[in-house]
Amino acid sequence: MNMKTGESWIWWKHGVIYHIYPWSFQDSNGDGIGDIRGIISRLGYLKALGIDGIWISPMYKSPMVDFGYDVSNYREIDPVFGTMEDFLELIDKAHEQGIRVILDMILNHTSDQHPWFIESASSRDNPKRNWYIWKDGKKKERPPNNWKSPVGGNAWRYDATTGQHYLHSFFEEQPDLNWRDAELPGVFFDEMKFWLDLGVDGFRLDVINMIAKDKKFRDNPLVLGIPAFQKHLYTRNRKRSIAIAAMIRQLTDSYENRTTIGEIYAPPPGDAKTAARYLAKGKEGIHLAFDFSLIFSIWNAHSYFKCINTWYKNLPDGGWPCNVLSNHDLFRSIDRFPLRTNREEKAKVASTMLLTLKGTPFLYYGEEIGMHNTRIPKRQIRDPLGKRYWPVFTGRDKARTPMQWTKEPNAGFTTGIPWLPLNRDIRSRSVRQQEGDPASLLNHYRNLIKLRKTSEALQRGSWNPVTNGQQGILTYFRNTDDERILVILNFTGRYKSFSLHEHTYGKILFSTHRNTEEFMYFQNMQIGPYEATVCLVSE
Ligand code: NOJ
Ligand code: CA
Repeated sequence: MNMKTGESWIWWKHGVIYHIYPWSFQDSNGDGIGDIRGIISRLGYLKALGIDGIWISPMYKSPMVDFGYDVSNYREIDPVFGTMEDFLELIDKAHEQGIRVILDMILNHTSDQHPWFIESASSRDNPKRNWYIWKDGKKKERPPNNWKSPVGGNAWRYDATTGQHYLHSFFEEQPDLNWRDAELPGVFFDEMKFWLDLGVDGFRLDVINMIAKDKKFRDNPLVLGIPAFQKHLYTRNRKRSIAIAAMIRQLTDSYENRTTIGEIYAPPPGDAKTAARYLAKGKEGIHLAFDFSLIFSIWNAHSYFKCINTWYKNLPDGGWPCNVLSNHDLFRSIDRFPLRTNREEKAKVASTMLLTLKGTPFLYYGEEIGMHNTRIPKRQIRDPLGKRYWPVFTGRDKARTPMQWTKEPNAGFTTGIPWLPLNRDIRSRSVRQQEGDPASLLNHYRNLIKLRKTSEALQRGSWNPVTNGQQGILTYFRNTDDERILVILNFTGRYKSFSLHEHTYGKILFSTHRNTEEFMYFQNMQIGPYEATVCLVSE
């Protein structure tokens, strides 16, 4: 509880959330694939890291064409991850440790093996026909319009049984649900209620900005006249998607203390303005939305400043930001910083920013030990995107390799053969090794999270920039009435001087370069290369 404002501590606003890719977190039965019992066994680790909630990528029954993002039964756990009993135990044990559990909810499409789709495809007059998007082609087998899938190729597939095309925004094994149907939303919300009733704390809403399509099925405009490149004008961010997001908010608000996080994907450089539209005003929108701008930012203080500033400026009244650097679809942030030099130092600067910004931080598993993208040999590629586009694009597996717990051959992840190869650096990069090293990235994360937990200003305070990063350093205040925190981040490998005129000194709470508890004087400061320092300002 904040004594001044009376606002209580809200886990999805003031806590830190950790994203688990279940295939790769911890295997418990030696089949080489991570599972629920594996996650249960690592709750202590998450607790020690200071995590308040986990978002787990999908674990529902699935043919696994897209590694669980193709669901064939929303009410069952896929046996590869364990049983429903295991899952219920996970919720209980996580809750005992004060860790909330967020599931991934895939609304845009199901698997083509989902009984709903099998029925829908069986005849034109099947009662579930309209639950999916079926259309006559232009001249029978020619697609109804020019819509392309972001995974490549046509977004329509002709089905000879009924002589119509169905829409699949992703792979053809992932037919799109029809959110304009009168019945479907209610049916789908029942699937969500099933998990809410079991005690799940919220949902990450997969591509929520794509779920509704243009009513008139108009052609998307082309970019540079090239059919493969199009502006997704009629396939993304339709008003209906935003309206459905608001309905989901109502649904989750009928339970206590739940949350929703929308994936509002936009291609580089990201689109904060659109992400903010899903937050609407206060409770008319979802709780949180991912803006991809920080993920796509180049390694430059000014560029990060612009992303952050734009994001906050676009937030509606009462809208709360969240921030993220990596996820399971894109390269790990540590390898996105260019030139591959000083990656560890840069990771410390970036994570200090993430954990001192206003908004809920989301960490991607392994980020806290600086796990790298892994080069996957062609024959071991699992991601259908990598298989399809190799060698031009080798897919998303590189950011999905097993968590590196120890330096043993399979890194303590499995006793069997891991489903994806481990990174070659396991001998020098693991949780066990970093736990014992006070200067490690893991301890850097732990200390920062601990600091965030003890500081009202870091959890709830306003964000007031001092510099806009143009000189290579980003500096900002996080303020409440009682606490004023100054964050100094040097994004360059050079010394930078910096002065703050309105305050004289402060106490160092956290620093990559200085001793904590000492005082820092704010005139003519020399900020070291890749220095990240957090100070409590004294008047
Ligand atoms: C976004 C998910 O993050 C990605 O992994 C998946 O392939 C697509 N949505 C389709 O569900
Ligand atoms: Ca397993």
